[in-house]
Amino acid sequence: MSAPIISPSILAADFSRLGEQLAAIESADWVHVDIMDGHFVPNLSFGPDITSTVHRVTDKPLDVHLMIEEPEKWIETYAKAGAHTIIFHVEAVADEQAAVELAQRIRDLGVRAAFSIKPGTAIEPWLDKLHHFDEVLVMSVEPGFGGQKFMPEMLEKVRVLRRSIDEQKLDTVIEIDGGISLETIAVAAEAGCDAFVAGSAVFKAEDPATAVDELRTEAAGA
Ligand code: DX5
Ligand code: ZN
Repeated sequence: MSAPIISPSILAADFSRLGEQLAAIESADWVHVDIMDGHFVPNLSFGPDITSTVHRVTDKPLDVHLMIEEPEKWIETYAKAGAHTIIFHVEAVADEQAAVELAQRIRDLGVRAAFSIKPGTAIEPWLDKLHHFDEVLVMSVEPGFGGQKFMPEMLEKVRVLRRSIDEQKLDTVIEIDGGISLETIAVAAEAGCDAFVAGSAVFKAEDPATAVDELRTEAAGA
């Protein structure tokens, strides 16, 4: 397995010092940007302008997680804002065909395409569509808020995905999001995750840079 990818979520950052906070996670691999619309999830966060500001301030790839209705209307906007990966929710699109078409549109813009699934959504219907996606984001909390408790029962979904990706000889990345910390990252890595979103565990830590390194070491040791 290659080195674990750590993607700090700026949802937990102090926005009055965004530049400093981004500089503090120099050792991170990606930056996770949580977009919430107050409809798909019961919370609002930020949109394309903040995303392009983040893109200006950091040279790290932006992992843009769209927790919004009608993601198909926003793909070009987030591509232009600097997304390296665009993650949409399967619960926000009409059906599997629509998801595959959206992934193709994302890839045509030169952006990595990913889907995310909420805790209550089954992964099985998506296993034969994985080759259309560069990444799958498994939610290990109900999307909407940072700082929630990790749901260990989501690891079964990760194991099913890992098996299927390996059997199909794909290089689709498995990322996990929600409640990742030094206590939970090892079991997630062991289940087969390649990439780890961490909000509170990084930005609420005394030293975010050390927190990133410790998380990566803990995941690599699993
Ligand atoms: C939840 C977001 C997460 C969140 C993670 O809706 O998608 O990315 O910021 O925060 P922690 O790591 O604190 O659970
Ligand atoms: Zn997220």
